[in-house]
Amino acid sequence: MEFEGRDIISIKDFTRKEIDYILETAEAIEPIAKTGSDMLKGKILATLFFEPSTRTRLSFEAAMHKLGGSTIGFAEPEIASVRKGENLADTIRVVENYADVIALRHPREGAARLAAEFAKVPIINGGSGGEEHPTQALLDLYTIKKEKGLIDGLNIAMVGDLRFGRTVHSLAYALSLYEVKLYFVSPPLLKMRREVLEAIKGKVDVLETSNLDEVIPEIDVLYVTRIQKERFPDPAEYMKVKGSYRINMETLGKAKPDLIVLHPLPRVGEISPEIDRTSHAKYFQQVWNGIIIRMALLALILGSIK
Ligand code: NCD
Repeated sequence: MEFEGRDIISIKDFTRKEIDYILETAEAIEPIAKTGSDMLKGKILATLFFEPSTRTRLSFEAAMHKLGGSTIGFAEPEIASVRKGENLADTIRVVENYADVIALRHPREGAARLAAEFAKVPIINGGSGGEEHPTQALLDLYTIKKEKGLIDGLNIAMVGDLRFGRTVHSLAYALSLYEVKLYFVSPPLLKMRREVLEAIKGKVDVLETSNLDEVIPEIDVLYVTRIQKERFPDPAEYMKVKGSYRINMETLGKAKPDLIVLHPLPRVGEISPEIDRTSHAKYFQQVWNGIIIRMALLALILGSIK
């Protein structure tokens, strides 16, 4: 399978075979995540983050360091020359001279695709507005597979902001390649985007509802998301849906004993801290799995794993 030099813009650019290969590579690389390696010695990753981030950027940087590579970049575009009015295409054409691969997060949908059109080095989309977040979807799949043994046959619910949340878009596209049933649980205002529903139609069973209690007994994986306050065009609309779902012990009262709860983080009240102590909680494992997936991706893209 050929990954060297490839961009990672949308999860839709990958087949199930390719995704499975990435997950297998991650599994194989996991021991190295503890010991470290010099597989990518001399290689440079640039992280260009035009939007706030803690885990995605640090996770990419940690992954690169664990493989012996180094990192450059910025997380405060207001102090970079973007502030002087430089456009994204120019920024990319400059940075590609400094780095072997670029991880980009940008508030605009389509930004990662545009960057890839200009760049000679591979671009990894670390989040493009409310559109997609493909590396998060890969680490979500990796977590599901690790915790559940396999992905096929599961009932998977996504809860919260399915309209502006980019992680659920990428995850839904990815899961449509497996034999799963998807439950989209949201207030009517924050329903799963039509373009996503259209793309996965006929591939997987989908159930849309606003009532979590009704479906919770059937669920194997509960993927909770933050309401994306910053992406609402109208603050009054946000106030209507703020705090729509709060997962606590009571919510999970009728859940399967081996239900796992995932969240891309940061959480702002959607999951009560009392859940953290239960065996359902896997959101901090996702963080660790994020490093492993990004190590695998960097090694594949830079050609040190074939
Ligand atoms: C998510 C994001 O940035 O889309 N965070 C992340 O990358 N782990 C989710 C969010 O911000 O709610």
